[in-house]
Amino acid sequence: MQKKGNIYGIHRVLEPGNALPQSALRLDNNFSEIYDNEILCDVLTLNIDAASFVDIKTRAANDPQTVSKIMLDIVAKFGKHKNPRTGSGGMFIGKVAKIGAALRDKTDLTEGDEIASLVSLSLTPLRIDEILDVHMDKGQVDIKGQAVLFESGIWVKLPNDMPKTLALAVMDVAGAAALVDRLVSPGDTVAIIGAREKSGLLSCYQAKKKAGPNGKVIAIVHREEGKEDVANAPFVDKVIVGKADHAVSLLQKVEQATDGNLCHVVISCVSTDNCEMGAILIARDRGKVCFFSMATSFTKAALGAEGIGKDVEMIIGNGYCAGHAELTLNIMRQSEYLRNLYTRRYVTDHP
Ligand SMILES: NC(=O)c1ccc[n+]([C@@H]2O[C@H](COP(=O)([O-])OP(=O)(O)OC[C@H]3O[C@@H](n4cnc5c(N)ncnc54)[C@H](OP(=O)(O)O)[C@@H]3O)[C@@H](O)[C@H]2O)c1
Repeated sequence: MQKKGNIYGIHRVLEPGNALPQSALRLDNNFSEIYDNEILCDVLTLNIDAASFVDIKTRAANDPQTVSKIMLDIVAKFGKHKNPRTGSGGMFIGKVAKIGAALRDKTDLTEGDEIASLVSLSLTPLRIDEILDVHMDKGQVDIKGQAVLFESGIWVKLPNDMPKTLALAVMDVAGAAALVDRLVSPGDTVAIIGAREKSGLLSCYQAKKKAGPNGKVIAIVHREEGKEDVANAPFVDKVIVGKADHAVSLLQKVEQATDGNLCHVVISCVSTDNCEMGAILIARDRGKVCFFSMATSFTKAALGAEGIGKDVEMIIGNGYCAGHAELTLNIMRQSEYLRNLYTRRYVTDHP
């Protein structure tokens, strides 16, 4: 008889006792017996959140073995891969190994199905037995190990029309394009900051789709290097090279590009600190600023906007929006440009 689990997984929280799994310090990652509402998976690959992986690589001086050691330490200490320095996790792909008795009739999953988790590794009980390969330039790590999804957890079956590691890479940031889809209206001027990477380019694509031919998608990239991937994208109207942490200089560039009108919607997909004001300044009054970036400070955004008397609606980029996985996988199907680019960037031979 399996033990009865809590829908949100609080039965796995070791400390502190009142926490939900995401905010908990430590989770129980002993899977010798699962609870009746859990899905146990054999994990194949972890996709580590970009901010977290940059932090780990920096601490490891770019040495893959040291990266492995840091990751093993995190999981041994916390029972999950929540980098304590960034607070973020990532996602995994794996094979369903066991489905709790209470869930069997409620799910169309069967043992052996390959899935991508759509909840963060920062709340997912995980055990790593061995690290097989660290893909340093992709933020993906092949492992032997297991993880548990809770009843409230979300997942998607891996599509069979694209490589697994491509699906994993885009699923990590699936919320971004889905948020853009909700926030952008036809004719809008939309700026995407941090446009060169995964969430940035997906956001540009969806922004153009929603803003339409009368709208304008402005892609803001950090530096000249790698700019061509954005400049060549058929869904980007204008590329600006600018740093969001140099807010006034960025404002001048966006003023020039918009005849002083600024943007209806700004999406921040950056990975570094102090970019809040760059995003806020380039939005027009009563515009929308969505912070998808994990490096966002609520205090800096709220007090910063107040400090300059800027009345904008600020939105925290929830990693989950209903339908986000399907919308993002469909972008990979619809956009040959993005599919080719992301295949080059993120597809590995493993597992
Ligand atoms: N909200 C959520 O649920 C959720 C889920 C997953 C990820 N995230 C977060 O979303 C963000 C984006 O992730 P990602 O994987 O798409 O991309 P990423 O690999 O983190 O890339 C971030 C981009 O920001 C650019 N950038 C860094 N500093 C900048 C600055 N000062 N001004 C302008 N651009 C700057 C970088 O440019 P260079 O490449 O030139 O350095 C890079 O292109 C990260 O913070 C990640 O942690 C959020």
